[in-house]
Amino acid sequence: MHKLVIRGGNPLLGTIRISGAKNAALPAMAAALLTDETVVLENIPQVRDIETERRLLAAMGAEVELGYGRAQHRTTICAAKLSQHPEASYELVKTMRASSLVLGPLVARVGSARVSIPGGCAIGARPIDLHLKGLESLGAKITQEHGYIEASAGRLRGAHYRFERITVTGTEDILMAAVLAEGETVLENCAREPEVVDLAALLTKMGARIEGAGTSTIRVRGVQKLRGARHRIIPDRIEAATFLIAGALTGGDLMLTDCDPSHLGTLLEKLKQAGVKVKVGEGSVRVMGDAAPLEAADISTEEYPGFPTDVQAQYMALMTQAQGTSTITENIFENRFMHALELCRMGANIRIEGGRATVRGPSPLSGAAVQASDLRASASLVLAALVAEDETIIDRVYHIDRGYERIEEKLRGVGAQVKRIGEILPRRVGV
Ligand code: EPZ
Repeated sequence: MHKLVIRGGNPLLGTIRISGAKNAALPAMAAALLTDETVVLENIPQVRDIETERRLLAAMGAEVELGYGRAQHRTTICAAKLSQHPEASYELVKTMRASSLVLGPLVARVGSARVSIPGGCAIGARPIDLHLKGLESLGAKITQEHGYIEASAGRLRGAHYRFERITVTGTEDILMAAVLAEGETVLENCAREPEVVDLAALLTKMGARIEGAGTSTIRVRGVQKLRGARHRIIPDRIEAATFLIAGALTGGDLMLTDCDPSHLGTLLEKLKQAGVKVKVGEGSVRVMGDAAPLEAADISTEEYPGFPTDVQAQYMALMTQAQGTSTITENIFENRFMHALELCRMGANIRIEGGRATVRGPSPLSGAAVQASDLRASASLVLAALVAEDETIIDRVYHIDRGYERIEEKLRGVGAQVKRIGEILPRRVGV
């Protein structure tokens, strides 16, 4: 089990290139199941979840090449020879809940799917009932037994389906099912995340007929067949947000390149409100944390374009160093404050009441042995460690490797004192 050892106190100075978005790459890889032609995806992040998805697709009969050569982070997928009864096993799904994204494409393409029911995770129960109701509305038959979902269908039929609550992968799953359904599908109360828009862009290149991606209502006119395509995955807005906060926290001066500032609107406004100086450029954002002392500013997480729940933990670390009291309200997941307990062990002053955290700052943080519990909680601990006195040792770093590409190298490149101990990650994940 490797760990990260971080010695705090250095302002981060320099440039970090933002990787492709994990949460756009995962649905895009699943979309390759919709065609028997080759799909090439560029700007794929070198993170564990992508390797897990590679194994998942290969287990179903798809040919998946995944390479992180010098200039390319690319995957080439051909699902010409899918097994008749493809299965997403518990072994794989338990390590990555986003495996449920294969449901829609498989039912649409081969009329059958057996997918392990993804258990809950540290941040909540995370059911996929809305995915299943969406598939049933398109004519799929869904049963559940022995911990697996069995879905079967002839050709899916277009329908009018309204999500009872906004779900990102639910929207993506049903959108992928609808593109091969007969007739028109209207999806209401859809997620508006940039990752949904990126998936729709790929599907359109493959020949799908989609209108309204990025709004609450998406219309799809089904087609008989989709073709292969080449597509570049959008930059990771959550990774960018994480490093923006790192620059602000450490009083540094960081330039983030290969990112899309238009995906960061709410966060940039909030950082400015907290006294952080940011400068938006063409495909870049610069954060200057040495401008003024940090001021407490409240947030309440919402679906896009609101403040992202995936940045809540990182923002809490920032607020531990801000002057005054801030309130952080988590509205998306029922248990997404695990990082707060570890931040308090480092000296933060945080009180939790249900879905609300009250942070009083600034509190000097001291290095400690802490434990990561989920992807973004571990990012929050890395941020706190960057300003804590002495050394912090973060255990269970595999959580962070799921969604951040070589985080210690990127941080070291801008002056952080960080090293990974324990087994050394192979330079290339997947071949
Ligand atoms: C996606 O998860 C992201 N993952 C998450 O990022 C992100 O936190 C989340 O969206 C919210 O933005 C990927 O895109 C791979 P939801 P998803 O369905 O789609 C409830 C990270 O850090 N719900 O939008 O699983 C659910 O319990 C990860 O990269 C149902 O009740 O989230 C939650 O309370 C963590 N029934 C809310 O909706 C359903 O069928 C939003 O969940 C589906 C969801």
